[in-house]
Amino acid sequence: MNETKLMSTDVIEQGLDAVEEYLLSVVNSDVEVLRDASAHILTSGGKRIRPQMSLLAYLAAGGQDLDEVLPIASAVEMVHTATLVHDDINDHSLTRRGKATVHSVWGRTFALLTGDYLFTKVYELMAPYGPEYNIVMANACSRLVEGETLQAAAAKAGTIDRETYKRIISLKTASLFEASARMGAQLATDDADLIDNLATYAYNLGLTFQIVDDILDIVGDPDEMGKPVGTDMLQGRGVLAVNNGLSQNDGDGTSPAITNTLSQESVDPIMQMMSSLRESGAVEIARMQAEEMGRRAKATLENVPPSAARTELEDLVDTVLTRQK
Ligand code: IPE
Ligand code: IPE
Ligand code: MG
Ligand code: MG
Repeated sequence: MNETKLMSTDVIEQGLDAVEEYLLSVVNSDVEVLRDASAHILTSGGKRIRPQMSLLAYLAAGGQDLDEVLPIASAVEMVHTATLVHDDINDHSLTRRGKATVHSVWGRTFALLTGDYLFTKVYELMAPYGPEYNIVMANACSRLVEGETLQAAAAKAGTIDRETYKRIISLKTASLFEASARMGAQLATDDADLIDNLATYAYNLGLTFQIVDDILDIVGDPDEMGKPVGTDMLQGRGVLAVNNGLSQNDGDGTSPAITNTLSQESVDPIMQMMSSLRESGAVEIARMQAEEMGRRAKATLENVPPSAARTELEDLVDTVLTRQK
């Protein structure tokens, strides 16, 4: 690793440490359950990839003082964390980031309220910034909720085809990645093309990230990931279900293939479904789709001036493509 790269990595690490402090310092409610449940999810780890988007886009766009971007980087992680608390209720997931989910410890009511509380903290973190930042953040939040809703509605109706899948992941995941980079870049430069290029990079990285997440839902190790596997398949969604035609169900929320498998009692039906999905070739198709999105992300970076931060953004594409958690 050369010296410039080392320096940039150090700067990012310091920035991310500061983000941790911001996150914990704002969840300071006098109401014990909100404080405890918020601290529980915020201190349980997480890759912090969205704040990295903001910090690296800021540096790649020429920003010099990372302090400027720290509240924004914290705000995007706060949005993400809030949605995870709610997403785990919707997905009936019992583990997250290697710990018990908020709803499995405190129950659904307090988990809903903790998610709401974390969302309200986003206003506080965004308050120092002008409308041109708050509008970007508001749009990303609306899209995220639209994506989660569209997914739930389409999975229930059994209508997730490739087009709908792409729309869902664009809304629920790529939008927040895009906004994270856009706001970081906006703070550093007035160059609209440069801002758009960094935002488009992050959007494509977000698509890559979600496709890989959906692959890991079938082939990943739940201990390493700190969250359950098989969730998407059970709900007839996710890139593998879509590629394998399993996302069409008979109206009761289960796909025909899952229903058929469930009627055979000899083998664990979930394990059997997962293994037939692995063998179907759907993983390879999904991997090619993720790689294509990764290539698009890298291609957009070619329009960004070279810097240590740009190199880190480029490397992040490979990290996302090869991640196991
Ligand atoms: C999980 O996001 C939800 C998706 C968009 C796939 P991350 O994989 O970034 O979760 P943490 O923050 O590292 O736990
Ligand atoms: C991403 O989808 C959730 C959000 C964008 C909130 P998933 O449901 O696949 O995320 P995980 O797998 O539970 O982390
Ligand atoms: Mg989930
Ligand atoms: Mg997932």
